[in-house]
Amino acid sequence: MSQQGCDIGLIGLGTMGRNFVLNLADHGFSVAVYNRTAEKTKDFMENEVGPRPIQPGYDLPEFIGLLRRPRAIILLVAAGEPVDAVLRELLPLLTPGDLIIDGGNSHFTDTNRRGRFLAGRQLDFMGLGISGGEAGARHGPSLMPGGSREGYDRVLPMLEAAAAQVKGEPCVTYLGPRSAGHYVKMVHNGIEYGLMELIVETYDLFKRGLGLTPAELAPIYDRWNREELNSFLVEITAKIFTRQDDRTGRPLIDLILDKAKQKGTGMWTSWDAMDLQVGTPTIDAAVVMREMSGFKEERQIASLVLAGPSPAFTGDREGAIDRMKNALYASMIATYAQGLALLRKASATYGYGLDLEAVARIWRGGCIIRAALLEDIRTAFKNKADLPNLLLDPRLGQEFLSRAADLREVVQMAAALGLPAPGLMATLSYFDAYRSAELPANLIQAQRDFFGAHTYERLDAPGAFHTEWEEE
Ligand code: 6PG
Repeated sequence: MSQQGCDIGLIGLGTMGRNFVLNLADHGFSVAVYNRTAEKTKDFMENEVGPRPIQPGYDLPEFIGLLRRPRAIILLVAAGEPVDAVLRELLPLLTPGDLIIDGGNSHFTDTNRRGRFLAGRQLDFMGLGISGGEAGARHGPSLMPGGSREGYDRVLPMLEAAAAQVKGEPCVTYLGPRSAGHYVKMVHNGIEYGLMELIVETYDLFKRGLGLTPAELAPIYDRWNREELNSFLVEITAKIFTRQDDRTGRPLIDLILDKAKQKGTGMWTSWDAMDLQVGTPTIDAAVVMREMSGFKEERQIASLVLAGPSPAFTGDREGAIDRMKNALYASMIATYAQGLALLRKASATYGYGLDLEAVARIWRGGCIIRAALLEDIRTAFKNKADLPNLLLDPRLGQEFLSRAADLREVVQMAAALGLPAPGLMATLSYFDAYRSAELPANLIQAQRDFFGAHTYERLDAPGAFHTEWEEE
């Protein structure tokens, strides 16, 4: 430990916190740690730290005393009230120029509020999105920092060292002021929800449609992961299908209750997309399906009374598997397209000044949505920084177009078999709406004007018009 004190402090020794501390220390940075329950700190120090440069603080004043000044402190506590509670306790112990970094999945409006409050006390604040789960925190996450630029410059060497590296580039960059980092992390999670939903829809079509077993599914997703679908989520899907349950010897996936939980970040993405009036239908469908999965008991009753077609697929199986791969890849492109279009609008509305090429670059490694596709997405924004939608990139647009017929077939197959595939269906409609020079919204305008005199615009003349639709 240097005479001047630890390089950085970390509060919150949950799984993410402990792993991130070990990651920082393994890169040669000295870290002071504090946890509300001293037992946890003690256990961490005794069982995990070893000879690493990590110092415990068993109360906050002791912890603060361990830090080099101006101090830098990362919070890894549950999002919401716990962050405010820690800030309240910390505040009297801090001095102007100290930097607080919130590394949790905080809502971006909370981050804006906290940043304003702390700036009023001459304290620097950063919202830092951290993605990659436990393994990422330990061996290299994708880091999405926003907020104080001076603060960022101060901790840059630590963040760059701890982050995942792809082709010699660290998966971290300064994203923008205020809540830019937490906003980008929120949209990352929205895309995560969308991709997970698309994958599980292919699983359902394979399982209930084609009657494939986990043992038969594993090699399919494994092969996909070695082709253009190469991505963390497809990779873990293949691995999940190979796992046997210790207790029964059966495939573990068949024993897991089909009720999906959520902590809210996907829903926040959909909410804000609605607020900013940017459509993210694949993400919305993913949120809705997690909610519908929760109605297990109602679904069980409904399954007895609401009949549908037989889900058994009788056509060409090999062809169906290939079509599914193409449908999934096209839909993945469109999901990133929706998320990035939302980021573009948010950047303009909230003044984040986001560089979407940089966002794609730092998502290539460490995070849950890392995928080979992100290399092409990065190139798309490199070629045209203000690209309004990834589908308008010549290369990605072509990748989608060459698979659109297969996506259409898979959607038709799902509808014919009575299997829910709202992610794939919404994606196809998003594509069809986006490529429609004309939509039927003229009739919506007429209806609005009919019942509420809301006026409409005309194709052949400027201005707002109203019609008395019902002749007296
Ligand atoms: C990540 C993840 C992570 C998230 C979990 C669970 O990037 O490492 O997004 O931040 O908390 O994936 O999210 P849900 O509980 O909402 O599914």
